[in-house]
Amino acid sequence: MSQTALSLSSRYGGTPPAVTLPALPIFDTLLAHASVRHFLPDALPEQTLPTLLAAAQSAASSSNLQTWSVVAVQSQERRDRLSQLAGNQAHIRQAPLLLVWLADLSRTRRMGEQLQAPVAGTDYLDTFLMSAIDATLAAQNATLAAEALGLGTVYIGGMRNQPEAVAQELGLPPGVFAVFGLVVGHPDPAKPAAIKPRLPQSKVLHHEQYQTPTTLAEEVGDYDAHHRAFQASQGMPIKDWSQQVVERLHGPECLSGRHLLVESLHRMGFPLR
Ligand SMILES: Cc1cc2nc3c(=O)[nH]c(=O)nc-3n(C[C@H](O)[C@H](O)[C@H](O)COP(=O)(O)O)c2cc1C
Repeated sequence: MSQTALSLSSRYGGTPPAVTLPALPIFDTLLAHASVRHFLPDALPEQTLPTLLAAAQSAASSSNLQTWSVVAVQSQERRDRLSQLAGNQAHIRQAPLLLVWLADLSRTRRMGEQLQAPVAGTDYLDTFLMSAIDATLAAQNATLAAEALGLGTVYIGGMRNQPEAVAQELGLPPGVFAVFGLVVGHPDPAKPAAIKPRLPQSKVLHHEQYQTPTTLAEEVGDYDAHHRAFQASQGMPIKDWSQQVVERLHGPECLSGRHLLVESLHRMGFPLR
């Protein structure tokens, strides 16, 4: 079995869909994705950052507005502080690089000022969403590039737990919001990450029109069992995925402060009309 076919099998908990993936290196990279949370302290080669940026900037961008930016944080002290703000996540302190991906409407607004042209379109929810989507596409390109280079990454949504404190730490002007972080480093070979199974394709793919399931079995199929087996193999608490999902979103108390995000965004220069 090829490495890609093995990864495909792991991706679906040993029950892969009937597909033979093309024997192209990009599929090896895509299928082998796993978030890495244990890193060596080794520095990254100098070429890594501009390489990841070239990949990021090659992503599509809504109307080519390019309303995103990224802060590369290498300073140990700043990573320590950002780790605290993101729920004390050790991997932020451990890995040599944290990329903080920004929805950035401030560049557009400055350009409007310089060209003496109104840019009130930046005040709307859709423009914020567009900006966050562009930042996300860029980040995912950088993630794949890093993984293709043999590096490890993990996204940090915890960057939104205290968005105004993060903005202060990074010197963000109004109209700039840290959508998430991305830790980048050399994976610790002593603690390798494993491919985490996903839902069966039939649960996320609809043909022509959305088919609304009516039972939990229809929603998740055998995925709860795959998830339990994965958790057991990793020595993690054994729990159904469906249970984990509803617990994670039980209420505002489970959102690590992010239930206050809309008020923060208003104060940070996003009216979200
Ligand atoms: C936007 C985003 C934010 C995330 N935030 C965190 C985080 O703060 N800490 C963390 O350890 N993992 C974080 N993750 C990683 C997810 O937990 C992980 O992708 C998921 O469990 C699936 O595992 P896999 O990436 O290994 O396949 C985040 C992932 C995404 C896409």
